[in-house]
Amino acid sequence: MKNILVTGGAGFIGSNYINYILNERDDYNIINIDKLTYAGNLENLKISELKSNYHFIKGDIGNAELLRYIFEKFKIKYVINFAAESHVDRSILGSEIFFKTNVMGTNVLLETARFFEVEKFLQISTDEVYGSLGEKGKFSETTPISPNSPYSSSKASSDLMALSFFHTYEMPIVITRCSNNYGQFQFPEKLIPLMIINALNNQKLPVYGDGLNVRDWIYVVDHNRAINLVFEEGKIGEVYNIGASNEMKNIEIVNLILSQLKRDESLIQYIKDRPGHDRRYAIDSTKIQTELNWTPAFTFEEAIVKTIDWYLENKQWWQRIISGEYKKYYSEQYNLI
Ligand code: NAD
Ligand code: DAU
Repeated sequence: MKNILVTGGAGFIGSNYINYILNERDDYNIINIDKLTYAGNLENLKISELKSNYHFIKGDIGNAELLRYIFEKFKIKYVINFAAESHVDRSILGSEIFFKTNVMGTNVLLETARFFEVEKFLQISTDEVYGSLGEKGKFSETTPISPNSPYSSSKASSDLMALSFFHTYEMPIVITRCSNNYGQFQFPEKLIPLMIINALNNQKLPVYGDGLNVRDWIYVVDHNRAINLVFEEGKIGEVYNIGASNEMKNIEIVNLILSQLKRDESLIQYIKDRPGHDRRYAIDSTKIQTELNWTPAFTFEEAIVKTIDWYLENKQWWQRIISGEYKKYYSEQYNLI
């Protein structure tokens, strides 16, 4: 058995990873540590909880004592670090927790993993560390790091720290940098679930600036397939970009959701732009495609319909969320409700 510490496994991508991997692998023992912030939700993991090779511990990756206890008790030899504060808009409202978790938390996790001599430490990162593109070009693994938001600068800091542990201590670090994900269990502060839910509730769809910013969308299942390939076969000390070559303008996404849900375009409301808003992201994933033989399995057309259907079929999941702390954030953020 591989004893794997998965951090942030109650969030969007981490919970999708655990649900997916426990179906695929009986030889993984997954120990999930999650602080259960506003973004963590154990309801995402109902299927996993039935498995004997899955364990959950509520805790902070910045808690050294707790980490030492977990590494010892479960004889942890592998780490996949999903845990992070992940929303750009929240990082603009207040950056402190982003640096506490994404930088200092990752530092505590790295130091503990170093002490216990793990065999692989996979840092889950983002294309946002590369900054913003003009109309042409794509981010490759050698594109200089140039983050623009408090969120992306905290992620860039943790990437650089992890790489320094590889160079200095020969720690077995690997990093993945992925583009924008969508799919089931995504918290409705992010573009796609927010627009689906507002459209279903006949509320305004807040589009920042001119709506022409471009993101490169990937279905969360394809991201997780890539993560596991890198976890199993990725070369130590390397960075792997992950993306499905699916660039779209925000307004195209919004219109598609409206038409799929048969709602009128009059629901769109252009609002003040996000400060420092990155214009365009696009990922060159040649390296993972050629070295590890990964390709996305889903087209955007099929996976966006699956995603919209999931939100239609799981109203209870998001209704509980939007009636909680989210409501306060949402009204402050958009000043719309
Ligand atoms: P999310 O916000 O949905 O989930 C984050 C999870 O981490 C939550 O369950 C939260 O409770 C947990 N967490 C936060 N602080 C913690 C702490 N101090 N200790 C333990 N757990 C803590 O985020 P996500 O969208 O699932 O993103 C997961 C990772 O993937 C992040 O590192 C993010 O930077 C990266 N990423 C996200 C995307 C995307 O499009 N969502 C794309 C590329 C990379
Ligand atoms: O690129 C990977 C990153 O993608 C991840 O590292 C982040 O964790 C993830 O949150 C995401 O960041 P973005 O800022 O690109 O995602 P978000 O869903 O917040 O916004 C996508 C685009 O939509 C962006 O151009 C801003 C715009 N937007 C977003 C919201 C929430 C709107 O126009 N209106 C909105 O209400």
